[in-house]
Amino acid sequence: MALDYNIVLIGFMGAGKSAVSSYLRKNYGMDRIETDQIIAKREQMTISEIFERYGEEYFREKETALLTELQNRKNAVISCGGGAALREKNVAEMKKNGRVVLLTAAPETIYERVKNSSNRPLLAGRKSVEGIKELMEARRKKYEAAADIIIKTDNKKISEVCEELMRYV
Ligand code: S3P
Repeated sequence: MALDYNIVLIGFMGAGKSAVSSYLRKNYGMDRIETDQIIAKREQMTISEIFERYGEEYFREKETALLTELQNRKNAVISCGGGAALREKNVAEMKKNGRVVLLTAAPETIYERVKNSSNRPLLAGRKSVEGIKELMEARRKKYEAAADIIIKTDNKKISEVCEELMRYV
């Protein structure tokens, strides 16, 4: 089955976007696009280095430009960085040819998934259930407004999340 549109994954860091995109590539033959990876490759730096050297705004501009560029694709699963859905312009781009899927998880679940990650600058100083909860709450409305479909990932295997997702597309 090839889709003539894209699946765009959004959600907080550690919500499972990359794991889901990997599964969909392997099991459903979709093209997999990881926006963070592409930006890091183009800039020849890790995400943390980009933030450190040029600041968040620079990274956000790269993200918007890339999302705009990706809209001519189809049958791709586009896994976005956790902040991508916060800009209206980005969401408008995502919706041009994509179904936007929000993956969610409780702060406790997210904490367990990201606690050993060192390439997430926005978690610096916030690597606790409380810190995660606070940022998640600040973002929640925008995430939900952007989403066409919302899927909870707590206590589910990646295969279960993907099967649920594919029932909607
Ligand atoms: C960010 C999430 C990261 C990455 C950057 C900013 C965010 O992606 O884009 O560190 O603002 O939530 P992941 O969601 O893949 O960790």
